[in-house]
Amino acid sequence: MSNPFTPAQLWSLADRYCTPLWVYDAATIRERIAQLQAFDTVRFAQKACSNIHILRLMREQGVKVDAVSRGEILRALAAGFTPGFGEPADIVYTADVMDEATLATVVEHKVPVNAGSIDMLHQLAAASPGHHVWLRINPGFGHGHSNKTNTGGEHSKHGIWHSELEAALAAIRTGGLVLAGLHMHIGSGVDYGHLQEVCGAMVKLVERTKAAGHDLHAISAGGGLSIPYRKGDATIDTAHYHGLWDAARKQAESIVGHKLGLELEPGRFLVAESGVLLGTVRATKNAGSNHFVLVDTGFNELMRPAMYGSFHAMDVLRRDGAALPARDSVVAGPLCESGDVFTQGDGGVVLPRALAGASVGDLLVIHDTGAYGSSMSSNYNTRPLAAEVLVDGTDARLIRRRQTVEELLALELSL
Ligand code: LLP
Repeated sequence: MSNPFTPAQLWSLADRYCTPLWVYDAATIRERIAQLQAFDTVRFAQKACSNIHILRLMREQGVKVDAVSRGEILRALAAGFTPGFGEPADIVYTADVMDEATLATVVEHKVPVNAGSIDMLHQLAAASPGHHVWLRINPGFGHGHSNKTNTGGEHSKHGIWHSELEAALAAIRTGGLVLAGLHMHIGSGVDYGHLQEVCGAMVKLVERTKAAGHDLHAISAGGGLSIPYRKGDATIDTAHYHGLWDAARKQAESIVGHKLGLELEPGRFLVAESGVLLGTVRATKNAGSNHFVLVDTGFNELMRPAMYGSFHAMDVLRRDGAALPARDSVVAGPLCESGDVFTQGDGGVVLPRALAGASVGDLLVIHDTGAYGSSMSSNYNTRPLAAEVLVDGTDARLIRRRQTVEELLALELSL
């Protein structure tokens, strides 16, 4: 659990911008980037937190960016990333399927495509011969903090199945495309047991690529680096992680006979611990043996507990700073749905958690919400998207204003 902010700071931001509010700390993001400096290229998986101002911060630190939709490509361009077939390219588009509008955008801006299906290669070749591509390979196994984030193995829709590598390489050759690199991302949440296997699988793929007469410039380890959501969770040893991949890269270099770039594509690791979600306690009540603390933020803001049963540490802040005795509470939001509960066990079981006894007006701080928080928000129950604030040292600035209900209604009323 990380907490980059003081209670006074959070109170002043809540008073100024209201709740619900996302708050990010720039220094924590810079620290995480620095921890990965051994990799040739750190490519931010912006799906974790795609605010343009966060992307700018990444770019200023030399980080490249991954996009998984046309919208994310346009965000990267708006943040000042330069499109084109660089080595490494500033922007890479990763997907298993590509609609016509996205195809037109990657062609227009020469954004390399990290293809998870052979059909994408055919579609790209027809529209843009000479286009640079990566192959995202599903090695046949994966892992994840939940089944929903496991992206390897035969139950995953992601990547080109490992035995189809040669077919994909043939599509590249006949389509006149250029192979930039090989990529694997097999899930969110690193498992060291698997890592050796993943690195070994990559070396074998490079061998087969070479045997099929293709050259490449880089390999990508994908993302998946975990963070300690709970007290006592292990923190990732980035030097060890790099060491394993660097050894694989060296083996791959001896196969291809020249230097290869080593890319990493983290989302969560770079931003999760930088962010908190602030809510205000609006009601408390008892129901049988449960004590409920009801706040003004719900799973339309932070979906992770409802969707995966994810744990997020929480604090209650009293305006007068008073320390309160812990009280087992179910922390729930304002949505008209019983799953709108932040204290969940696996499988969405309501779980009271020991929290400072909260009362109306207190501030609820939900920690480690910088990744897959705001970016997964929705307008469910016609709730406008919350505002976002970036704190950089003594400076705090709004980086997304709160959406208004009128803006939402206008999408329909204008017709
Ligand atoms: N690269 C690719 C191709 C990915 O699909 C992902 C995540 C990443 C990189 C970054 O993974 P990370 O380093 O953040 O684990 N919404 C879920 C996580 C979904 C991840 C999807 N893909 C959550 O809240 O935990």
